[in-house]
Amino acid sequence: MIDAISFKNGTFRYLDQRYLPLKEIYVETQNYLEAIEAIKTLAVRGAPLIGASAGYTVMLGINAYQGDKAGFPAYFANLVAEVNASRPTAVNLFFATRKMQDVYDANYEADSLEALFAKMTDMAYKIHNDEIDNCDKIARHGVELLKQDFADVLKTRKLNVLTHCNTGTLACCGIGTALGVIRLAYQEGLIERVITAESRPLLQGLRLTAWELEHDGIPFASISDSSSAILMQRGMIDFAVTGADRIVANGDSANKIGTYAHAISAKYHGLPFYIAAPVSTIDITMSEGSQIPIEERDADELRKIFGTQVATPTTPVVNFAFDVTPGTLIRGIITEKEAVVGNYNEGLARVVNG
Ligand code: MRU
Repeated sequence: MIDAISFKNGTFRYLDQRYLPLKEIYVETQNYLEAIEAIKTLAVRGAPLIGASAGYTVMLGINAYQGDKAGFPAYFANLVAEVNASRPTAVNLFFATRKMQDVYDANYEADSLEALFAKMTDMAYKIHNDEIDNCDKIARHGVELLKQDFADVLKTRKLNVLTHCNTGTLACCGIGTALGVIRLAYQEGLIERVITAESRPLLQGLRLTAWELEHDGIPFASISDSSSAILMQRGMIDFAVTGADRIVANGDSANKIGTYAHAISAKYHGLPFYIAAPVSTIDITMSEGSQIPIEERDADELRKIFGTQVATPTTPVVNFAFDVTPGTLIRGIITEKEAVVGNYNEGLARVVNG
């Protein structure tokens, strides 16, 4: 399995995803500002991996602390604020820093700094390891739901699935979320072929998902993002499954820009559209999708294609990195606890609180 991130002897090591699949470059750092930069630039990316990386980034910041116990609270508050400012949409980042904050809150008074840091290190590892385990459970729940939803079709043939962006090992640790469902469904003989939408402008689908599928020997074809409707019209897609960066109480789900258009097309063609994501991606403090902060990225991500200028440097650009698919378009939200189908307000509160 690809080692997208790891943390050993105070060093954070990551595979720089900007160069994949053409170059596999691993980077090591003990500097938390460099780790923040890796999150900002999408060298590490994908909601669960951003969360796990955020936990390790806090650890790098803590390991660099030279002061006494009295000075630590202000240092820690600033560190968490800096990590939280790296990317706005994937709530997993805030989930991870909250977990680190909880350990701090519970132990700062009683512990020496050394004992406190040891507990925080354990939490950073736990955040990462939990996401690995979550992927296996999500895959199992997803395959069960597919077997129910496609019971009749599966008597005569296998299924073709559309996915968007990258939700595999690179994005999630483990086998992935949506890609974990696809991997297990393929192993169980449910899948004919995977269609990976390229995911403009940074091409996570074309570069990363395709790379993971090729590595696994799973049949796939890549398409431009705007092709999903014609493939659905021609019966070349049976269902879609993607990940999410933030799912709010009513099931509205933010994911890589372009996801919403696939979901609308799926609805029009009567095909189920699923989201697969861990509970760390659910944010029931927000009631509906319009409240989700949507990251707007640099105009040059569009004006240039991997460094090559393709539009004039003055072309005005709107570059939303994510869109929000309404819960009403989603057949089911597959988590490690259960696949929530139906009333999301009730079901998502149950998986978060239960
Ligand atoms: O900008 P990115 O590459 O971090 O966006 C990633 C996505 O949108 C993924 O689809 C999402 O995080 C789900 S990953 C399990």
